[in-house]
Amino acid sequence: MGFKTKQIHDGVTPDPLTGSILTPIYQTTTYVQDSVDEYLAKGYSYSRSANPTVRALEQKLTSLEGGADTTCFGTGMAAINAVFMTYLNAGDHCIVSDVVYGGTYRLATKIYSRFGVEFSFVDTSNADNVREALRDNTKLILTETPANPTLKLTDIAAVSAIAKEAGIPHGVDNTFLTPYYQRPLELGADLSIHSTTKYFDGHNATVGGAVVAASAEHDEKIRFVLNATGSIMSPQVAWLTLQGVKTLAQRLDGQSQNAHAIAEFLEQHPKVESVTYPGLASFPQHELAKSQADGFGAMLWFEVKGGASAGKTLMDCIEVFSLAENLGSIESLITHPVTMTHADVEKAERERVGISDGLVRVSVGLEDVEDLIAALDAALAKV
Ligand SMILES: Cc1ncc(COP(=O)(O)O)c(C=O)c1O
Repeated sequence: MGFKTKQIHDGVTPDPLTGSILTPIYQTTTYVQDSVDEYLAKGYSYSRSANPTVRALEQKLTSLEGGADTTCFGTGMAAINAVFMTYLNAGDHCIVSDVVYGGTYRLATKIYSRFGVEFSFVDTSNADNVREALRDNTKLILTETPANPTLKLTDIAAVSAIAKEAGIPHGVDNTFLTPYYQRPLELGADLSIHSTTKYFDGHNATVGGAVVAASAEHDEKIRFVLNATGSIMSPQVAWLTLQGVKTLAQRLDGQSQNAHAIAEFLEQHPKVESVTYPGLASFPQHELAKSQADGFGAMLWFEVKGGASAGKTLMDCIEVFSLAENLGSIESLITHPVTMTHADVEKAERERVGISDGLVRVSVGLEDVEDLIAALDAALAKV
């Protein structure tokens, strides 16, 4: 079956009781058992451990990513936390891409560092850097590609091969491209991690997360942490996400086409200093973008001539786009990472990895592209 068929049908069967085509929202805490000896015969005991609506989403995501199984969480950060908690103990070392979502950086540097876990933030765009950063106590490699917000890419197959040689898992944050465009497990990674808040939901309606594991062994370990820490996704969120995923491919194609057109418009605009989009020939890793993914995605960033203050003027006056955190939804959003998504990354670290004060991040939505370009043109005229 093709992806568009699978995104609609996989993981979901008509409700056995009523025939309801949509999996119901199983709003329940507990599940009545037939007898002590038949405990868990129907698969469910308590909704912190598993819930049928959440399970339907897990099965759908497993199919789309080509994994062994999936565990869904209350947020993307809860998913990343579960990955850290599963593989890292006091005294261990973890390699993380030097450009990652600010919340991932915060979790590592402000929380896990308190428990004696060491992190190296490595430029994983060059796989040799990953090999050089390996230590005897390295227990996990976590990459994010494309990375939030600079869109730097990591060669997933090359880093996965290094992780395999070292006998440690490689987790990839696949939030920006989703399995429709990029399937890390097919390239050798052990875990594909998502903030389902973004493209899977697609409508700015929920927060959620997921870890798709390449093997049942990895999934069992992750699921143990889910149950122990009580971080499961709610059935309402799973239900909304189940509906969102059904149009993932069409949304991502439409949003990416809009992003490509906007990137080309910005690239020739006299008031724009630079624009970064993996689909442009000027993107430094354009060839890798073409070879490891089936599409370029709907995220881009640019800098306005005149630096941070010019960028702020644009963000404050632009119409159609909303000034907001989040990405991946059908509404176009504009974000200033330095004050919003990456505020907890120290200035020196931001500068080291290229998150400049003037960086304007755009999550391109599904509006008419002419209206989006006209809004950008009008805002640039006011700068
Ligand atoms: C790449 C990436 N991973 C993880 C997260 C965290 O997800 P959530 O906000 O659902 O906790 C985000 C949030 O922006 C993100 O952009």
